[in-house]
Amino acid sequence: MTSAVADAHVEVKQDLKGNPGPILLLGAPGVGKGTQAKELAAKWGIPQISTGDLLRYNRDHGTPLGLKAKEIMAAGKLVPDDLVNQMVAERLKQPDTAQGYILDGYPRTLGQAAWLDQHIGAEAGVLPVIAVSIQVGYNELLRRITGRRICPVCGTIYNIYLQPPKVDEKCDLDGTPLVRRSDDTEEVFKERMRTYESQTAPVVEHYRALGRFEEVDGSQPVSAVAAGVEGAVERLRNSEQKQQNRVQG
Ligand code: AP5
Repeated sequence: MTSAVADAHVEVKQDLKGNPGPILLLGAPGVGKGTQAKELAAKWGIPQISTGDLLRYNRDHGTPLGLKAKEIMAAGKLVPDDLVNQMVAERLKQPDTAQGYILDGYPRTLGQAAWLDQHIGAEAGVLPVIAVSIQVGYNELLRRITGRRICPVCGTIYNIYLQPPKVDEKCDLDGTPLVRRSDDTEEVFKERMRTYESQTAPVVEHYRALGRFEEVDGSQPVSAVAAGVEGAVERLRNSEQKQQNRVQG
């Protein structure tokens, strides 16, 4: 690497840390959206916004939204767009989103994508959305979902087959007994996959067609997937910057 290229590389990384803008992480249940979003959000100093986590919070606290979402989530179906869009709109008003955020698990329907495209496009000075789709094969997804365990206190994600904790069923960080999500059964997983294919796969195609989109192989180790996502985000922001420079002359 020449020093000019190395400098440019460092510069982009600094930019990403300061202002990576809105990033969508797309992909089927269990591809590793949450795992990657947590790691990269911490690295870039921006929030991870997981609609699944927000809905589970509402469900567990018995809010009106949670009561409406409970049965739908248990069946592996999607919560109606208007409820989810409203929840996301509220979250995006928080000041911690000013320099960017990682949306994990949203948008999941073309209706949600249309809402988001319009909502973000309407704000002056905000970087355009970029989307990264993570790909993993069906059998591996099933293993990831049925083996997943989560720390209910700090949210760290484990997998009893692939990323086990040091002590069986206990969080490495705080020793809390790990829990299993109620929708992480094989039966509900199959329904979640059907829902993904029929309603969310078209969202991936929507962002592919818009450009500002890359795919990453999610079947590699976590650190390699993280490097893949980071590389994709750097390339997408770089090419957008080049385009802007060309427009400005
Ligand atoms: P949500 O919580 O978003 O679930 P999901 O999209 O099905 O995705 P997951 O959280 O199951 O998987 P993930 O990709 O985050 O994988 P993770 O990193 O945990 O949604 C739940 C429900 O809420 C939906 O079914 C729906 O009802 C509702 N909902 C949510 N958003 C909605 C929306 N926008 N509209 C309407 N309804 C909505 O990893 C999985 C496992 O694999 C872990 O055990 C992990 O340790 C392991 N793992 C991860 N990466 C690797 C790796 N590289 N190598 C080995 N193991 C790995």
